[in-house]
Amino acid sequence: MRKKVTIVGAGFTGATMAQRLAELDICDVILVDIPEKENPTKGKALDMYEAAPLMGFDSKLIGTSNYQETANSDVVVITAGVPRKPGMTREDLISINTKIVKSVTEQIAKFSPNAVLLIFSNPLDVMVFVAHKVSKFPYERVIGQGGALDSARYRTFVAMELGVSMADVQGLVLGGHTDVAMVPLPRYTSVGGIPLPDLLDAARIEKVVDRARKGGTEIVQLLGEGSAYYAPSAAVLSMVESILLDKKRVIPSSVYLNGQYGIKDLFLGVPVVLGAKGVERIIELKLNKDELAQLHKAAEMVRETVSKVQV
Ligand code: 2OP
Repeated sequence: MRKKVTIVGAGFTGATMAQRLAELDICDVILVDIPEKENPTKGKALDMYEAAPLMGFDSKLIGTSNYQETANSDVVVITAGVPRKPGMTREDLISINTKIVKSVTEQIAKFSPNAVLLIFSNPLDVMVFVAHKVSKFPYERVIGQGGALDSARYRTFVAMELGVSMADVQGLVLGGHTDVAMVPLPRYTSVGGIPLPDLLDAARIEKVVDRARKGGTEIVQLLGEGSAYYAPSAAVLSMVESILLDKKRVIPSSVYLNGQYGIKDLFLGVPVVLGAKGVERIIELKLNKDELAQLHKAAEMVRETVSKVQV
C-alpha cells in the first residue's frame, strides 16, 4: 500500500508542497483546506493529478475539506495559517495562527493518531508547541520545519558569495525560526570539505549570515503579499522524504529539547536524524562558548513568545 501524506492548507505553500511531493512519486497526497475553499482545493489537486501522465508519477492527489479523507495518514504537514505582510514579524501572527493550528491539529489527531506531524505555520517554534499540546502525540512525532529552510538559504548565499556549486556547500542553522533567533554556524560549514573560515574572512561570513537570517523577510518584502513558498516547500519535502523512506537524513528541525544543549522543555531548532519514527536522534554538537550563548539566547526568545500562547 502506498504511503499517505496530508497537507493542510492549499495556499501557495501547501499546493507547491503537494506538487513537489506527488512528482517525487513516493506517496499519495491529500490536500486539505476549509469548506469555503473546497472547490479551488479540489481543482488544484485535480490539475496537478492531470500532469501525472506527463511527469510520470502514480501518486494519487485528492483535494478536500473533509478530514475523513485524511484518515490514517503517515505524515501530516500543517501549513494552515495566515502569512505575514511586509513590516510584520512572524511573531505578529501568534494569536490568529494559534487558533487555526489548534483546530486543524484536533482534526488530524482524531483521524490520523499515528501520523508524524510536520509543522510549517508561523511563528514556527511556537506552533510546534501548540500542535504538540493539542495532539498529545509523543515528542518524536511532532516536528517543526525551520532549520531545513534557514540552512538552505544560508547555503545558497555561501555558494553565491564564493561562486561555487550549491552541491558542494554544507552547513546548518540552529535556533529559532525568526530573524533574531537564528544561529548559523560558520564553524560547521564546509565547501567541498574545506572549512568555510579558510575560504571567507569574518566580514564576508557576517554578510552571508546576516542575509540568511533575514532571508524570509527579504522574500516577504519582494513579494509584497504573502511569504516564500518555493524554498519552504522544498525544505518540507526533504523532511517528508526522509521520514517516509526512513532515510535517516540529518536535518536541523524544531524539536522538543529535554536537557540537550542545556535547554529544557522547549521546541527549538537543532540537528536531528529524521526517519520512520520521526525524530530518531538529537545530535548534540560541541558548540563553543559563543555559539552556545547564541543558542541559549534564542531559547529565551522562543520561551518568551511561547509564554504568550493560550491553548
Ligand atoms: C519563511 O521563512 C514562510 O517562515 C517561512 O519564508
